[in-house]
Amino acid sequence: MTNGKNIYLPVNGKIEEIIPQGRDVSLFRVRTQMPLNYVPGQFFMVSVWGAGEVPISVTSLFGADKAVELCIRRAGFVTETIHSLKAGDPLWLRGPYGNGFPLEISKNRDAVVVAGGIGMAPLRPLIEWFMKKPEDVGRVTLLYGAKTPEDIVFRDEMEDWKERGIKVLLTVDRADECWKGHVGLVTGLWQEVHSDLKKATAYICGPEVMIKAAMGELFLFGMPEERIITTLEAHMKCGVGKCGHCYTGPRYICTDGPVFSYREIKDISIP
Ligand SMILES: Cc1cc2nc3c(=O)[nH]c(=O)nc-3n(C[C@H](O)[C@H](O)[C@H](O)COP(=O)(O)OP(=O)(O)OC[C@H]3O[C@@H](n4cnc5c(N)ncnc54)[C@H](O)[C@@H]3O)c2cc1C
Ligand code: FES
Repeated sequence: MTNGKNIYLPVNGKIEEIIPQGRDVSLFRVRTQMPLNYVPGQFFMVSVWGAGEVPISVTSLFGADKAVELCIRRAGFVTETIHSLKAGDPLWLRGPYGNGFPLEISKNRDAVVVAGGIGMAPLRPLIEWFMKKPEDVGRVTLLYGAKTPEDIVFRDEMEDWKERGIKVLLTVDRADECWKGHVGLVTGLWQEVHSDLKKATAYICGPEVMIKAAMGELFLFGMPEERIITTLEAHMKCGVGKCGHCYTGPRYICTDGPVFSYREIKDISIP
């Protein structure tokens, strides 16, 4: 129990709005009966009665009010079931769990945000935080890679991010006839980042192979280990350090993470 609230008990939420975000992904705006008090980088165990429970990152900035946004990709049974719901349907939330992104380490420094696919979901509130507190960060560059242009999430919002000073660099694995931008790996965009990477901070989320490549390359460019930050995924059941499903090396991803620095995880194999 913390602050009188039993952290193991799910709270009842109601889906207010569902906004499609490219292929197989939708943003679910959920309203609850009590304040949720989350920070960027944390996650909820999200459940539908009769279907099951899955860990999903918060996609909105701070949860002092009674709402949260969740960006969910159809991956299997539970996420398919969530996608079959409509506005007004219930969704249950347990949490928030895990640590959050260290926001203070980017104070007076440039920040490089590196995302792949649905990995943009936990990083969106970070971008919102930087836009809200421009005095707390230097230049912000977002490097985002998706499989195809159709798979880019938050594409409409990115225009607003650009207008508000975020440098947005996009790339896709496979272009379509309308795509005029980069094609290739997100780590092929480093030369377009005009920050001194030795002095900057990086926040990374995406497929395992992308995380490993991005962390290793930033380290070689001279970025200190403790300022290369990522958020990891694992198969989770409890979310609170009890079941052992997310145990990797000496750490539980659910309680020690899911946010880690390169220093903390460089010697363990990413699940
Ligand atoms: C801390 C955390 C935050 C997450 N945040 C988000 C988010 O914001 N949005 C989102 O769409 N998804 C997120 N995920 C992933 C999401 O939890 C899984 O996609 C979901 O659990 C799949 O459940 P399912 O029943 O739909 O599919 P299943 O049938 O359980 O799985 C479908 C496929 O996905 C694989 N899979 C399932 N869970 C994971 C996992 N955790 N890591 C890697 N592969 C997995 C399975 O091996 C299988 O191949 C997050 C996971 C974690 C651990
Ligand atoms: S999910 Fe159960 S210990 Fe981490």
